[in-house]
Amino acid sequence: MKMEKTQAYTRILELRGIIDEANRRYYVENAPTISDRDFDFLMKELEALEREYPEFDSPDSPTHRVGSDLDATVQKEFKQYPHKYQMLSLGNTYDISEVVDFSDRASRLLPGKNFTYSCELKFDGTAICLSYSKGRLVRALTRGDGQVGDDVTANVKKISNIPQSLKGGNYPEEFEIRGEIYMPYSAFDRLNEERTRDEEQPFANPRNAASGSLKLLDSAEVAKRGLECTLYHMVGEALPFKTHSEALDAAQSWGLPVSDKRRICKTIGEIQDYINYWDTERKALPFATDGVVIKVNELEYQKDLGYTAKFPRWAVAYKFKAEQALTQVKSIDYQVGRTGAVTPVANLDPVLLSGTTVKRATLHNEDQMRLLDIRIGDYVYVEKGGEIIPKITSVELSMRNAALKAPEFPKVCPDCGCTLVKDEDEAKWFCPNREGCPTQIKGRLVHFVSRKAMNILAGDATIDQLYALGLVKSPADFYGLDKASLLRLEGWKDKMAERFLKSIDASRNTPFENVLFALGIRYVGETTAKVIARHFGNVDAIAAASLEELRETEDVGDVIAESVYNFFRNEANINDIARLRAAGIHLAAEREETAGDALDGKVIVITGTYSVPRDRMKKIIEENGGKSSSSISSKTSFVLAGEKPGPEKMKKAEELGVKVISEEEFMAMIHPAQNPVQNSEQNGEPAPAESQAVTQQEKIYKIGEQMSLFGDEE
Ligand code: IVH
Repeated sequence: MKMEKTQAYTRILELRGIIDEANRRYYVENAPTISDRDFDFLMKELEALEREYPEFDSPDSPTHRVGSDLDATVQKEFKQYPHKYQMLSLGNTYDISEVVDFSDRASRLLPGKNFTYSCELKFDGTAICLSYSKGRLVRALTRGDGQVGDDVTANVKKISNIPQSLKGGNYPEEFEIRGEIYMPYSAFDRLNEERTRDEEQPFANPRNAASGSLKLLDSAEVAKRGLECTLYHMVGEALPFKTHSEALDAAQSWGLPVSDKRRICKTIGEIQDYINYWDTERKALPFATDGVVIKVNELEYQKDLGYTAKFPRWAVAYKFKAEQALTQVKSIDYQVGRTGAVTPVANLDPVLLSGTTVKRATLHNEDQMRLLDIRIGDYVYVEKGGEIIPKITSVELSMRNAALKAPEFPKVCPDCGCTLVKDEDEAKWFCPNREGCPTQIKGRLVHFVSRKAMNILAGDATIDQLYALGLVKSPADFYGLDKASLLRLEGWKDKMAERFLKSIDASRNTPFENVLFALGIRYVGETTAKVIARHFGNVDAIAAASLEELRETEDVGDVIAESVYNFFRNEANINDIARLRAAGIHLAAEREETAGDALDGKVIVITGTYSVPRDRMKKIIEENGGKSSSSISSKTSFVLAGEKPGPEKMKKAEELGVKVISEEEFMAMIHPAQNPVQNSEQNGEPAPAESQAVTQQEKIYKIGEQMSLFGDEE
């Protein structure tokens, strides 16, 4: 039965929102929150609806665009250049019958033609386009939005298997060659170990690690990341090749990295054999592959088949099903989160899955445990989605020992022993001991210091130490710390304590919307915090708002409104807020209009780290009439050097005689009234009306949050 028209339209809008946001998380933030498979199915649903209801189709729909790795929300870190030839993606399928359809269609469109297929691995990394001119690498662009890409040449030059000059002499004068930059599993494991040790968020998978690394601002750092490249598509005017495979063979002879796992297939049977072979053998590869790409090999026929708006008609990607592994459940832990929610997590017999060893998997909640009918000792299938923590998809009942009993969900908090509670409409059990449960307290502190909240340099280990010594129990305690107390922490030296105190001090400049997020109000993620902060302007107005007023706030539903309302009716929270106010934390929205003209006409290159996040520093420059740029030239007014400035930038500044100034000198340059501490609370003005508007991007966030596809709110 056809869907109601309005229902279809609502779903189309919703899907576009979710897909756009998922694209942004994947391509820009390198932190995907839904699996590729789920993403592909959402996209297929949208395509089908737009086909069924063409009146709702729109050129802006993500079905007509390739995902973009360009970050539209911040000022460009990289120069951007248009692609000489549009950089398209591939149509993909999980269904072998669609590969058969692809081959049938090609045969139909090329009647009587004798053609072959080039079958290749689908490398799971980030796409790159290299331009060679007279045998020298002149530019490397990311895919960007397919039309325009980020110039990452300096970084690509640090990738060891990409030659900067070609060998032999028979290469075309100008050509482009496209491929994938990826991170082998060994480099990925090393990087994540390092990040965990440094209390940084590890990457979810090698693909995100590769694209995140390629967009680093410091190419010396890129060199250390162990990235590799494989090239799979040559483009250029009048290339002297008849087939795609000949072009790649030639590229290889010039010293370019090309896969040796390619195979020419003549029939669909051979294609199927290639797919089946690699579906098993990929597990032994030292890098991630997520499928096979099948291309019509003859360039003349590729031209005949041409392109749709988004994909070539001469190629298709077959995606492997997510890898599964069978392993045994050793025990089940019940983890308490910062909001008190209890999540069951299975400890597994370690098993290799997609190149990494899996030891734990989430079971989500009691209902899910019951649904899986899981028991300690069972053999289970684990699978990786887009997230770091794998999930258990099913139990292998044929291997079950009949004596195993279904585990009982605990009645009391595994940490503080308090009786757990559960609301009728909740899936999770909660520990109600908000004030006394150590895990909840530490969880809230970890959230408070996190990058998108107060951005204080501390992770789980530091919080554990601070809490164990009784130095920090509530967020405001950070602002009372001194060097002497920090030196009591095991392994802490002068420098470390000073750095930590400096970051605490800098966090006083955190904008109100981030502070509101940092408070850890249940269901109030980054976006909701922004909406509420802009709507009410300051914390007192939020605290005074009635349930009705909260509900009436755009994009704030009943659940969020109730959560915010209750938060401000809790005495401990009110005390915390009073102490944060006394510590000088922003509890009112910033003024948003341009602050001054001290930097009018100045072009400023920023390098290193500052006491405020980089994006904030750029905003300060803009607010004061300046422009920030990523590369130094004779037009640069000065270089603003923070801690650990990029050595190449410093060298260039010296060569060009460009002045270098410190953060302190810079802050002194701009009028004190235009410092980041400026806010409406101080000048008595309400937040400007335009700041209350909710952008489309933010609405999209909301849909994702409501569908619990994204975000870490429990
Ligand atoms: S050919 C005109 N070949 O997968 C399209 N792409 O999901 C040329 N990929 O956009 C692309 N391995 O980033 C091609 N052997 C391979 C590939 C490959 C990985 C990537 C590429 C593409 C995406 C599609």
